[in-house]
Amino acid sequence: MAVLTIEGGKRLSGEVEIHGAKNSALPILAATFLCNEKCTLQNCPALSDVDASIKILKHLGCKVVREGDQIEIDPTAAHNCTIPDELMREMRSSIVFLGALIAKCGKARISYPGGCELGPRPVDLHILSLQKLGALIDERFGSIRCRRVGRLCGNTINLPLPSVGTTENIILASVTARGITKIHNAAREPEIMDLAGFLNACGAKISGAGDSVITIEGVEKLGGCTHRIISDRIEAATYMAAAAATGGEVLLKKVQPDYVEPVFYAFREAGCELEIGADTILLRAPARLNRIKLIRTQVYPGFPTDAQAPMMAMATVARGTTMFIETIFQNRYRHVDELCRFGANIKVEERVAIVEGVDSLYAAEAQATDLRGGAALVIAALAAHGESKIGNIRHIDRGYAELETDLQALGAHIKRVDY
Ligand code: UD1
Repeated sequence: MAVLTIEGGKRLSGEVEIHGAKNSALPILAATFLCNEKCTLQNCPALSDVDASIKILKHLGCKVVREGDQIEIDPTAAHNCTIPDELMREMRSSIVFLGALIAKCGKARISYPGGCELGPRPVDLHILSLQKLGALIDERFGSIRCRRVGRLCGNTINLPLPSVGTTENIILASVTARGITKIHNAAREPEIMDLAGFLNACGAKISGAGDSVITIEGVEKLGGCTHRIISDRIEAATYMAAAAATGGEVLLKKVQPDYVEPVFYAFREAGCELEIGADTILLRAPARLNRIKLIRTQVYPGFPTDAQAPMMAMATVARGTTMFIETIFQNRYRHVDELCRFGANIKVEERVAIVEGVDSLYAAEAQATDLRGGAALVIAALAAHGESKIGNIRHIDRGYAELETDLQALGAHIKRVDY
């Protein structure tokens, strides 16, 4: 079992290159299963969730070769349409394989997905949407059996909320369906655009990705392509929050600033200077941060829920009171009790968290409760005086590639210790 030990109180300063986006890589890996030729994905982050997707692809019969941040997938010999429980449980986004499986194989059997504990994360919208495309679905004893008679059929789907995973699943299922599919109230996240970009490069006809109405004109079959995954906007926001919490200065490289824009206001309100380049963001923090009046998580282009926990860690050392309202997930404050171990002053009432900034945090032993909550603890430990220990870091490994190396390059005293 590994823990991170962090000797905090060091001002972070230097440069960091942002990796490829986890939330793009996962659905695009699932999408490669639909292809009829080899695909090459570049800028794939080395994350345990990516490992889990590769395991699923291999289990389905794809040949997968990984070299550095490049993954080559040859789906031409894929033959399997079942994903066993132990692979499904490794991550929640395994549910996006359902759309690809039913489209390509005509039948699929999977169990319910695993993933972060952020409150109830049902898959009802995924199921209802696939049914609208003609899939016959039977949910029993924790497993989802799905089949189709003939090709899936395009339809108009009005999502009651712009679910990211559901939008992706509909795209995957409908890309080779008969006729036209329209998704109303689709998720607009950059990762949806990246998925559509990949599929279009393989011969799909998807328009409107990035807007709330997406149109998919079904094609007979997909070829393959070489595609570069976009950079991870949440990793970028996390390093910005880490630098800001230590009064530091960081230059993010290989980043897509437009996608990180929804968090800029919060850093500026906290007193940070930002210089935005074509593919760089320079953040210069003041010695003491100001409070941010309100951080309300919203769907893109609103403030991302995935950046809420890292920003909360930063707000714990600001001067004054910051209010958070989490509107996306019901139970996304599990990091709060752990942050309080460092001396943070946070009160939670349902979806609202009130953070009273303190002068200093102190070293603590804490356990990562989920991926982004784990990143928040790393930030608190970086800002705290003394040596902290963070356990349960398998959560953090799901979403941050080369975390220790990158933070060490910024001057952090952080190491991974195996017990
Ligand atoms: C994706 C991201 C995750 C991010 C989230 C919101 C990936 C791999 N994960 O997760 O990092 O935090 O978007 O930006 O891309 N819901 C239902 N029924 C469903 C599906 C969703 O009620 O069938 C609800 C969820 O419980 C949640 C809300 O919709 O409250 C948003 O979820 P969704 O956008 O689907 O998130 P994910 O795709 O799971």
